[in-house]
This record gives sequence, structure tokens and C-alpha cells, in this order.
Amino acid sequence: MLQRSRQINYKTDRELERMRVAGRMVAEVHKLMQAMVAPGVTTGDLNEAAHAKMKEMGGIPSFLGYVVGGKAYPAVLCISIDDEVVHGIPGRCMYRGKLTPDRKLEEGQVVSIDCGVIYQGYHGDSAVTLPVGKVAPEVQELLTVCREALWAGIRKIRPGGKLSEVASAIEGEVRRRENEKTGRYGIVEEYVGHGIGTKLHEDPQVPNFCSPQLLRNDLVLKKGLVVAIEPMVNLGTHKTRTLADGWTVVTKDKKPSAHFEHTVAVTDDGFEVLTLREDGGATH
Ligand code: MF3
Ligand code: CO
Repeated sequence: MLQRSRQINYKTDRELERMRVAGRMVAEVHKLMQAMVAPGVTTGDLNEAAHAKMKEMGGIPSFLGYVVGGKAYPAVLCISIDDEVVHGIPGRCMYRGKLTPDRKLEEGQVVSIDCGVIYQGYHGDSAVTLPVGKVAPEVQELLTVCREALWAGIRKIRPGGKLSEVASAIEGEVRRRENEKTGRYGIVEEYVGHGIGTKLHEDPQVPNFCSPQLLRNDLVLKKGLVVAIEPMVNLGTHKTRTLADGWTVVTKDKKPSAHFEHTVAVTDDGFEVLTLREDGGATH
């Protein structure tokens, strides 16, 4: 977490052009995923369809084979159901010499789909949590809170703005939406947003809450910076643990979690969301 120095890659207009294409491809995959998500569909079905769609568009999956802590991620998507926060592994993927177990989506679940695509060397990264059929009202509200927190953060993006303003806006939006009925939400701290470009994860880190450490190490936003903003909000505790598969992050109290993410560029006078769906059927 401690960042003594930061190496930030500000993108030229030429680079941004490629990142726009990567972002549009991510949005197209999400459009397909939204159309497919329903009771009975399996995580393996979604992962394979996403891979086929990327190939058809001329994109490469960002996550497949991506190495974190010496382990290569075995799938195209991260699919995290209910109490799974992030990095859930879809079914029918080869991992540790075996196929991962496939799982059918069930009515009432929430499923987070995280997707990254590379186009001409540049990454786009976006996540959305979708309801499977009808879900409990407090869980539907959790999705709204997390999506609105993402957008509260996005709206702070402009040249001269600060990273701490983005983080505070995300945290503030979650807290603003709490009441007696909802109780206190957990904002995940161990996983944060990130710069993005020729690498999936670049500097700076983009936390979803403000802290003395962030204020000490704040960053003034400049045109050409591109970040993936990705709040993870839990119905209960903010605390998480990782399952024995080495990837799947779950809430400690087994309550549901939501995750929304967009890739956003700092423009001359504000922001541009590179992973926004153009068809008007925006889910996030
Ligand atoms: N959106 C996630 C992130 O930025 C996805 C990474 S999954 C990994 O961390 F497997 F590729 F690490
Ligand atoms: Co990300």
C-alpha cells in the first residue's frame, strides 16, 4: 500500500484513441453479459461467450494469464456471486491442472462481472454487479449505492482536481445513503482502483475512502491521466478474506457485496468514461 514514489504515464491523444477502442470493446462484452445473465446460465457460459465476443472484435482478454503474487489468473472474466467481492473464477477454466467447477446462476443472487480487454497494447477495465431475476430490496439498494458511489467519484475527475477528492466523494456517497434501515455499509479497503494504460495496473492507486496516508500522498489530476475507479461496497462488514483457490475474495460475514468499475480519462475540462455503453442501455 505504501507508495514512496509514483510513476504516472500520462496518455497522448494517440494513446487515448486506442484506449477508447479498448473501452468500447469492454462495454460491448458487458452488453452481451447483461443480455445473458438469468437463472440457469452458468459462469462458464458467460466466460466463454465473453472470450468469443472479444475475439470477434479483435480484442485480447486482459485478465487471462495476468500474474498477481506469482499466480496466473485462469479466466477471461472475474465472476463474483453474492458474498464474493472480486476475483471469483468462472467455471470450465483450466486451473491447477483441473477444470474449475461450473455454477448455475440462481434467482435472487447478485453477480459481479469484471472484464478487461486489450486493444493494440492498451487496456480497458470495467465491472458491474447485476441482479439475477428479482433480488431482496436491501440488496438492490446495495447495487444502487455502489453504482452511485462510482459516479460520485467519476464526477470529481478534472484537471486540477485531486485524487483525495475522488476518494472522499466515493466514501461520502456511500455514507450519505446510509440510514436506519440500511445500517452501515462496508467499504472494502484492501482492493482499490488504479491507473491503467499499457499495463492493467499502473500508478496511481485510487482508494475508495480518504485517509491520512492519501492526503499525505495526494495527486493533482492532469489531462492524460487514465484511471479505473472501482468501489466495492458490502451489506455488512468491510472485512474480506481469500478462499483456498487463491483468488476468490469473499466478505468475512458472508453478506452480499457489490462492485462497479469504469475506466475514466482526465480531459481538457473534465472526464471521459471510456467504458461507457453507447447503446443507452447503461447498467453502470
Ligand atoms: N478489475 C480487476 C482489477 O483491476 C480485475 C483484475 S483480475 C486479475 O484488479 F485477475 F486480472 F487480476
Ligand atoms: Co480494475
